[in-house]
Amino acid sequence: MANILVTGGTGRLGRALMPRLVAAGHEVRALVRRPDAVLPAGVETVSGDLGAASLGQPLASAAFEGVEHVIHLASGATDGQIEGVDLAGTSGLLDAVRAAGGAHVLYLSIVGIEQVAFPLYRAKVEIEAMLATSGLPWTSLRTTQFHELLWDVFDRPPPTPFLARGMRYQPVGCAEVATFVVDLLTQPPANGVIEMGGPEILESSELASIFAEVTGRPEPALRPAPTSTATLDALVTPNHREGRQTWRAFLEAQRGAGTL
Ligand SMILES: NC(=O)c1ccc[n+]([C@@H]2O[C@H](COP(=O)([O-])OP(=O)(O)OC[C@H]3O[C@@H](n4cnc5c(N)ncnc54)[C@H](OP(=O)(O)O)[C@@H]3O)[C@@H](O)[C@H]2O)c1
Repeated sequence: MANILVTGGTGRLGRALMPRLVAAGHEVRALVRRPDAVLPAGVETVSGDLGAASLGQPLASAAFEGVEHVIHLASGATDGQIEGVDLAGTSGLLDAVRAAGGAHVLYLSIVGIEQVAFPLYRAKVEIEAMLATSGLPWTSLRTTQFHELLWDVFDRPPPTPFLARGMRYQPVGCAEVATFVVDLLTQPPANGVIEMGGPEILESSELASIFAEVTGRPEPALRPAPTSTATLDALVTPNHREGRQTWRAFLEAQRGAGTL
């Protein structure tokens, strides 16, 4: 049993992780920015906005006192706040953790971040460098795209399609990532990067056609292929197929649950 603080506990992965941490017998605290954040029973909430650090309002170190593991999932990518939340926010978070006496920081990163020039991926490269020089014990768990992310982008298509034609993906379910995170807490900090991925590698067009087949909806549109074929496999990790649930099985489970 350990004292754990989670950021991003209300997000896709956070919603799968929080109940598993509680069920494993940990003392769990969630750093949340909204007063109406919904968290499982037994989780203590502390308010804190990672984006406020860049505005001169540092996180209170008291939130981190007695904490052994900080599981850092929060990201401002959806709100276009990568500079303020991911970069400045993580820097402020590390300051607060150090001020409170230190803790193992377990960060959620993405497979292939060095190979794709998305702003979020560049930020994650910088954040891993921050962790490596933080003086704190750390682990960066790089996973492939979550089934739940693909579901969100296919279910509520943005004006520009999300997945690129010809790119290969290896999606993994949040439930399995959450279980993997809980298991990581039983091991010493990696002080480095660990990878985890889903069971199968599929091209974007296959993901789109399985979505159409299982849901009965039109096939989602794809972005043009990247200009360099060298990046087509950037987001997969063929030697890390820890996840068992396939994309089709995830969608069938959504259909079974009546969420389609
Ligand atoms: N999605 C994927 O496929 C994938 C794959 C690999 C790795 N990852 C990484 O895994 C992590 C979790 O991803 P996710 O998809 O679960 O994220 P998500 O659903 O977008 O959730 C983001 C979380 O960050 C919180 N947050 C945003 N701005 C904040 C702020 N200013 N202060 C405090 N909290 C703030 C949100 O809280 P609110 O509820 O208040 O909005 C939410 O809980 C991220 O680092 C992501 O890059 C994601």
